[in-house]
Amino acid sequence: MIAVGCDHAAVNLKNTIIAHIKERGYEVKDFGCFDSTSVDYPDYASQVALSVVKGECDKGILICGTGIGMSIAANKFKGIRCAHCADTFSARATRQHNDANVLALGERVTGTGLALDIVDVFLDTPFSGELRHIRRLEKIAKIENENFR
Ligand code: RB5
Repeated sequence: MIAVGCDHAAVNLKNTIIAHIKERGYEVKDFGCFDSTSVDYPDYASQVALSVVKGECDKGILICGTGIGMSIAANKFKGIRCAHCADTFSARATRQHNDANVLALGERVTGTGLALDIVDVFLDTPFSGELRHIRRLEKIAKIENENFR
């Protein structure tokens, strides 16, 4: 199950991504928002992040105008590794190296075709499982344990 959320700046790209990944066979939980009425992106980042942290969804996709606000908010949740990507190289590397579990995109920044390619690479690329990357992820978890309540 893939959790998807956006703010008012990214409803069009959210709908396009949902249609695309459903076509590819993924189940989707759509947390909104659903129209161009102004909303606050942390509210949607929170819902998607929590669904991933709780294990209700396997991965999350968050979209706002830039993708930056969503990524900042999602990364405040313990266990979330949200990667803000505007290219496929980063999307592949963040899965292989960082085991990112949430992708953040910017509708005002990244064109639809590239955004769909980024989503595909993000969903299709496994974590490498290499020891050096596991060690670094363990250090991130240690930082969380030391600094999050
Ligand atoms: C909304 O205007 C905009 O600030 C938001 O979509 C996002 O880009 C924030 O990071």
